[in-house]
Amino acid sequence: MKRLLSFTSFCFLLICALGCKPESKVRIIKMGHAQVTAHPVHNAMVYLAERVEEKSNGRIKVKVYPNQQLGTERELLELLQIGSLGMTKVSAASLEAFSPEISVLGLPYLFRDDEHIDKVFNGEIGDQLLLSSEKFWLRGLCFYDAGKRSFYSKTKPIETPEDLKGLKIRVQESKMAINMVRGMGGSPTPVAYGELYTALQQGIVDAAENNPPSFYNSRHYEVCKYYTIDEHTVIPDVVLISTKVWELLSPEEQQWMQEAADESAVYQAKLWKESVEESMREVEKAGVVISYPPKDPFAESVKSVYELVKSENPALIPLIDKIQNTR
Ligand code: GCU
Repeated sequence: MKRLLSFTSFCFLLICALGCKPESKVRIIKMGHAQVTAHPVHNAMVYLAERVEEKSNGRIKVKVYPNQQLGTERELLELLQIGSLGMTKVSAASLEAFSPEISVLGLPYLFRDDEHIDKVFNGEIGDQLLLSSEKFWLRGLCFYDAGKRSFYSKTKPIETPEDLKGLKIRVQESKMAINMVRGMGGSPTPVAYGELYTALQQGIVDAAENNPPSFYNSRHYEVCKYYTIDEHTVIPDVVLISTKVWELLSPEEQQWMQEAADESAVYQAKLWKESVEESMREVEKAGVVISYPPKDPFAESVKSVYELVKSENPALIPLIDKIQNTR
């Protein structure tokens, strides 16, 4: 009886996730994310929704819920796993707990240049990483560009890793990010993205790190007047669908969804470039001091992070080598 009941409630949850009555032909899939609506990733998700609705002739509707309305990135992933939320977009750093392979992307100074980044994400390694969390019911559909992450601080410019000493630095909920900041000499403090503005304002943390569109659009530049372009990590965003929801789609619906996601990634890449330029212009106009220190001392200070990852998880060594050897 108990089993029957839990099976019935599971089916009910799935139907809720798809938001459709069993007999109706329209599927409504909810998609939650943590970013603000001015951010290019939000517009790309809205575009994805439009594309899939058009391709399916109105039979699939994706409703986008921004601003952490449905939960933090970690919570959104958990909702996807049980099938009570259909889709999300999170930073690859938030996926670390679900895919050890993806955690490799959090390694500082992993990429040589933009061409290297492009080859890894748009090639066989990218495809492999997108499906690496499927065993946890999280199916990656595409990557969105999330540029390069750099430090920003309330109190002083960060010119060398020594300047991080004594600073409480907000990091994502990611072991890799914690190890990186610790390696550089700062004190890492995980805070959910939606709570970061207040945490900076109240002095719970002194500094944080992110790409220019996030620094600008979430208005952290109002509190942090020093932005150091050290570009320590390149961590993409990932658009995901709950595998439970994916499996309820017909092969034709799956194809529409995949195509819509791929098209939204092309659109997002274009928005991203414009947004990076606009964000840098705007934060400078608002009085932020932007500096471009030499990157070598930062890269040098995090060599130990590679050693740590390799000794804790030797199974990741071939993937790290494969990424580094991609030409
Ligand atoms: C990036 C990323 C977000 C993430 C944020 C963070 O902006 O796009 O998905 O939430 O970083 O630092 O938490």
